[in-house]
Parts: sequence; structure tokens; C-alpha cells
Amino acid sequence: MRILSGIQSSGKQHLGNYYGAIRQFVAMQDQGEALYFIANLHALTTVRDPEAAATLTRETAMAFLALGLDPARAILFRQSDIPEITELYWILGTVVPLSNLDRAHSYKDKIARGISADFGLFAYPVLMASDILLYGSDVVPVGRDQVQHIEFARDWATKFNVQYVPGYDPADPTGKVSGRPGILRLPEAVVQESTAVIPGIDGQKMSKSYSNTIDLFADDAEIKRRIMGIKTDSTPVEAPKPLDAPLYQLLRVVLPPAEFVEVDRAWRAGGTGYGDFKKRLLAGYHATFDPARARYRALEKDPAEVDRILRAGAERARAVAAPIISRVRAAVGIER
Ligand code: ADP
Ligand code: TRP
Repeated sequence: MRILSGIQSSGKQHLGNYYGAIRQFVAMQDQGEALYFIANLHALTTVRDPEAAATLTRETAMAFLALGLDPARAILFRQSDIPEITELYWILGTVVPLSNLDRAHSYKDKIARGISADFGLFAYPVLMASDILLYGSDVVPVGRDQVQHIEFARDWATKFNVQYVPGYDPADPTGKVSGRPGILRLPEAVVQESTAVIPGIDGQKMSKSYSNTIDLFADDAEIKRRIMGIKTDSTPVEAPKPLDAPLYQLLRVVLPPAEFVEVDRAWRAGGTGYGDFKKRLLAGYHATFDPARARYRALEKDPAEVDRILRAGAERARAVAAPIISRVRAAVGIER
């Protein structure tokens, strides 16, 4: 089984990224051939400062490594180190219906928020589909907000195969019956439902774009400030607390289950103030993330090692992509 996922280097990594994505990536590295990459080409749709683009790319790689990705098992690389990706992106784009891109969430949401769109944002799902299809991925672990993109990748792979593989039957994508498997393999999304949406300190979805994050690698003072700043209502100390509070949801994911059982009881019983619960969350955050935070600090001191890991990863990823891109080229009639 080939597992692939990517994370954009568009900002600092936060609890939502960990529980919604990175934790699952790390857990899956033992279940098959895992490829994980830093989507730094996607990030160019929002990061326009070259210094920041370079720094965030390296920080995202360090986050992966600090949080348990093992480069001896999983392949870790930068999207921009794979020239085949932009080649497939163009070729795939020739079979993508415009109507699909019009209804892509990534684009629609930004338009709805009044952000003027450029071609990069509009074409974002095509680049993402190419990321997935280039390596013949079987499963793609992602947050729930990314599922539409995986469905697009399946649809466009099917369109490509129908167009370019003689005898291809979309009802039989692996060619079991027809003996005509597709060139592009259809991926499956894997979403971890229990932690599907992590709330931010204001109660909206935690996101870099809403400035409501609790980061994984910010300094201690900043983490404390964020956690103490989590929005709460005016429920009195002695009363039971509401179960839809962002603080409660965060306690549920961050605390070890045994500890949460006890906190949950206090939450429902009343008699404990929000300030005390925030202190529990802060202690739980440090207990959970301090080992990774220490590894991150060590990697910061060794940028050459991070770079070496990424280069070696890119070489391995290109080897996985090579047979697939060469079949794509042959299928469309590009001699190389
Ligand atoms: P952001 O919204 O902060 O820009 P990204 O869009 O870069 O985050 O998301 C990177 C990964 O982390 C995706 O797989 C996404 O689904 C997941 N993710 C981001 N925020 C959350 C959240 N609040 N809850 C669960 N998963 C999240
Ligand atoms: N769009 C994804 C996100 O914002 C990142 C991404 C880019 C990705 N290419 C991918 C995820 C391919 C999975 C597979 O989170």
C-alpha cells in the first residue's frame, strides 16, 4: 500500500495540523510505503515573501521530523524538488472540466471572503491531484476539508484513463476483468473522524488564516498566552460547563484519555472555574509536546541535516514517480 500526503508550508504548524493530519501521517508510516511532502508550491498561492517561503518550508520539514516522521521509513521531500509534478499538472489540466474548479472549496471559500483569486488558487486542486497521482498513491490521509480534493483526483484520473488507455473500463479501474488497468491509480481519502475539526481559541476551526491557533513550536510564553486566551462564556464557577466550548474540545484531544476522564467529570459536575481548566490544558500541552519541541530545537541547530534528509527524500520520490510519468508521456504522445 502506498500512502501519500502533504502539508502546505503556509504558516507555523498548530494543534489542528497535528491532530487533523500529522499525527495520522506518523501513525501510518508503518502501514505501507509512505511519502510525505511539504507543499511549498501550493504555499506560493499565499506566501509572497521569498524569505518567509524558504523559512516556512524548512520549519514544516522540521515539524514533521520532530513529531515522529522517521526518514528511514517514510520518504520526506519538498514538492518543489520534483519537476515531474508540474509536468503532470499541465497534462492533467487538459482533461479537467472548468466546472469542477468553479466549485472547489479552496477557491469558493476565498471568493466568498472577498479575496480576489488568481490562477494559482483556481488551479490549486489540479496541482494537488498531480501530487497524488504522480506516485500511484493508494491512500491519502487528510483533514475533512481536503476530501473534495481527493474526489477530484479520482474523477480526473478516471477521465485521463478513459481518454488515453484503450479498453479502459471506469467500472473496473484496476483492469481485473478487462486486463486494461488505468495509468493513473484512483486514490482513497482517509479521514480520522474522531478529531476531524479542532477548534481554535475563538471557537472557529483552528486555522492559520483566522489567527486563532495554538502553535506546536512557539515559545512557552506565547503558548501560555494563547491557552489562557481561549474564549469562554460567563458560566459561573459552581455550574456545569457547556460541552460545546472550544476549551472542552481541546482538553479532550490534548489530554491523555485517563486524565481526560477526570477532567470531564469536573467539567460536567461544576465547581471548577475555566481558569483551572486552562491550567490543565497548558500542563497537558507541555506533557504531550515537550519531547517534540526539544527535537525541533535540536533540528534548528542543524539545518544541513534537514536539507540532506529532504534531498535524499526527493531522490527516492522521483524514483517512485519515474515509471508513472513515463507512461503518461507515452500515452499522450510526448517523446522524451
Ligand atoms: P490551515 O487551515 O491552518 O491553513 P492547512 O489548510 O494548511 O491549515 O491544513 C493542513 C492540514 O491540517 C490539512 O490536512 C487539514 O485538514 C488539517 N487541519 C488544519 N486545521 C485543522 C483543524 N482545525 N482541525 C483538523 N484538521 C485541521
Ligand atoms: N491542500 C493540502 C492542504 O492544504 C496540502 C496538499 C497539497 C496535499 N497536495 C496534497 C494533501 C496532496 C494531500 C495530498 O492541507
